[in-house]
Amino acid sequence: MKHLFVLVSTFGLSISHSAVWAAGDAARGAAFFQQCAACHSTTAGEHLTGPSLANVWERKAGTVADFHRYSDALKRATFVWNAKTLDKWLTDPEAFIPGTSMTFPGLRDSNARQDVIAYIKAISEGKAPTLAQRGGGMMMNMQSAHADLKAAPADGQVTAIKHCADTYTVSTADGKNNKVWEFNLRFKTDSSRLGPTPGKPVIVGAGMQGDRASVVFAGPGEISGFVEQACP
Ligand code: HEC
Repeated sequence: MKHLFVLVSTFGLSISHSAVWAAGDAARGAAFFQQCAACHSTTAGEHLTGPSLANVWERKAGTVADFHRYSDALKRATFVWNAKTLDKWLTDPEAFIPGTSMTFPGLRDSNARQDVIAYIKAISEGKAPTLAQRGGGMMMNMQSAHADLKAAPADGQVTAIKHCADTYTVSTADGKNNKVWEFNLRFKTDSSRLGPTPGKPVIVGAGMQGDRASVVFAGPGEISGFVEQACP
């Protein structure tokens, strides 16, 4: 009897505890959202690895019209995103939607989930605490990771690419010729509004000190034509 009483009162405590947190705190959620920001923008129409989360609240899952990378699993979903479905999703995405392409292990902490959910709701309502207000170096990095490539500085503007043996020589508008091992140079495309001007690829990456770097083109059709097979 005594044991039972202890059990019941503990249960009662945990219920009132979760009730206190049920609403979540959007400002704290904005901080937790840093874990999501690598893959999700909160700007409408800006899609990264995952879709923009600008308007997901009360929207049917898998239906952001101009996001082209949904898994079949999420496209088949028939529910809308609300406090209940987001809580299940953020606990363990793969368990909730087997076959999802969101490779995120989940937020095990219930309070953190409620805070992130409050933040997602606030975004859709246009009341989210903004990243600038929150400050934080992490966010600054996120933003520069997807900066406007049309505004690249001279040392990022690629004027020519030559390939010889196992080496690319990437010439930039500041007059430098950067030699990069072919295995360390990636070619990417960015057709978003932040992508480079057609015909004006941009090199981004690790300071180009012979380390990994990426040349970003406006579209795939430009790539092979831009690279000249030539030895100095
Ligand atoms: C590693 C990248 C990555 C991270 C980190 C990530 N997501 Fe995702 N997210 C995705 C991808 C990819 C999808 C699309 C999944 C699919 O189609 O199966 C997605 C889908 C979603 C959706 C459904 C959107 C829709 O239109 O139906 C929500 C909501 C979401 N993520 C929230 C979050 C939150 C909140 C976090 C942080 C706690 C997070 N994600 C972290 C990549 C990520």
